[in-house]
Order: sequence, then structure tokens, then C-alpha cells
Amino acid sequence: MKSKRIRLGVNLDHIAFIKKSRDTLYPSLADAVKVTEEAGADLITIHLREDRRHIQDLDAIEVRECAKTLNFEMAHTDEMIKFATELRPDFCCIVPEKREEKTTEGGLNLKSLNSSELDLFKNNIEKLKAADIKTSLFIDPDIESVKLSKKLGAEIIELHTGDYANKFNSIDEFDALESLIASSNYAHSIGLLVNAGHGLNCENIAQICEIPHIHELNIGHAIISQAVFTGLNDAIEKIISIMNNCD
Ligand code: PXP
Repeated sequence: MKSKRIRLGVNLDHIAFIKKSRDTLYPSLADAVKVTEEAGADLITIHLREDRRHIQDLDAIEVRECAKTLNFEMAHTDEMIKFATELRPDFCCIVPEKREEKTTEGGLNLKSLNSSELDLFKNNIEKLKAADIKTSLFIDPDIESVKLSKKLGAEIIELHTGDYANKFNSIDEFDALESLIASSNYAHSIGLLVNAGHGLNCENIAQICEIPHIHELNIGHAIISQAVFTGLNDAIEKIISIMNNCD
């Protein structure tokens, strides 16, 4: 048993995907928050994308009203900084966004920012802080990105575990894991909290839990995928029962 329990954030974007695909009121995000919290998750994570492909503005407001702790993922844009300071999540995780990507495929490319872009980033993190929001930066596991995150004033980093997940069970798995371990150790040594996420599932998560200083994991796809099968039986039985009780 570990001395400190790792916190779990559950990403509910996939629930919003189903809702958006038919523009129905269900599945309800408020119900999803309730079940998620009752199941023991420590926080709710949602990502309001610029293209609004899953979570909508009203979904974010609904989730904020009922979630005990909210981690709001967003791109670094003026629109999102304004939205977040009004929404007031507990945490903002700033992520890169590309229109054509299926999901957040890599960490922020902080190394490519020039000095005025770095200043803007720093100012925006200060704005979030002034609104009582802690900022986390979603970065690839490399030391330079960790250093820049600290320089920008972030209190937390979230290490992108996608590369490790893709390499899991291949000969490159160990190198990917080593980069995560080195980044986590370094981040901890300079006073950053270390979260991690992306592509984690029941098969590949154990080694991630062994990485020193991991504070929280954010997981979406694998949990919602599993939930489909855990819940499918009940959903079918319910419909059959209603059909059988019709006159
Ligand atoms: N963390 C961040 C910053 C993400 O963008 C995502 C994907 O939305 C996740 C964690 C969760 O990834 P997955 O859905 O693969 O578990």
C-alpha cells in the first residue's frame, strides 16, 4: 500500500460526445458527475474545445454547478481565459489544441514560444490565479518543458502519458517510462505538483502509479469504454421490462 493515495480525475468528455451527437438532453452530465463522485473519483475533468465537439458552454456551467472539484481543460486563448475566469473551476489545465486531432495528441510546445508569447502565458496564469484557479500545464515529459512550466508560474504540470501508452508492451516502453520518471522527479524537486494522463487504462496504469510523486491521474476514454459494458446489460433489461409491461 502506498503512503499517499493518487487522486483520480475522471474526464467526462465522452458523455458529452454522446449527448452532442443527437442534441438530446441525455446522457445528463449532472447525473454523470453524481455517479462519478459517488464511485470515489476525486475530481471531474472536462475539456471545452474551441470547436465545441463534445462539451458545450452550457455543459461546462452545469458541471461547475454540481461538481465538488472541477478541472477545466482548455486551450491558451483569450476566449478560454475569459470563460475560465467566469466559470471558476478549481483547476485549469492548459492543453494544446489542433482542429484535426482526435484528442490531445501531445503536450504544449512551450519551447517554441518567443519572449512576448511567454510573457502573455505568464500574465494569463496570473489572471487565473487572481480568480482563485490553480493552473496546470499539459506537457510532454521533458525537463526543458518542466523548467518552462515553473518559469511561467504554473503550480502543477500534467505529464502527457500518450507516448508511454502507445509504446506499452513494446521495446520502447522502458524509455518512455524513464522520461516520465525523470520529469516527475525534477518537477517535484522544483516544487511543482505532478499529474499525469492520456491513454491510461487497466493494463498500463500500474507502472504509472509507481512513478514517484504522482499526485493525480486524469482518465477518460478507458473508463467510459468500460462503463459501456458494465451498464449495457441494465440498459437493455430496462427497455425490455418496459416493453413487456405495455398493454
Ligand atoms: N489529460 C488531458 C490533459 C487530456 O487532454 C486528456 C484527453 O482528453 C486526458 C487526460 C484523458 O485521456 P484519455 O481519454 O486517453 O484517458
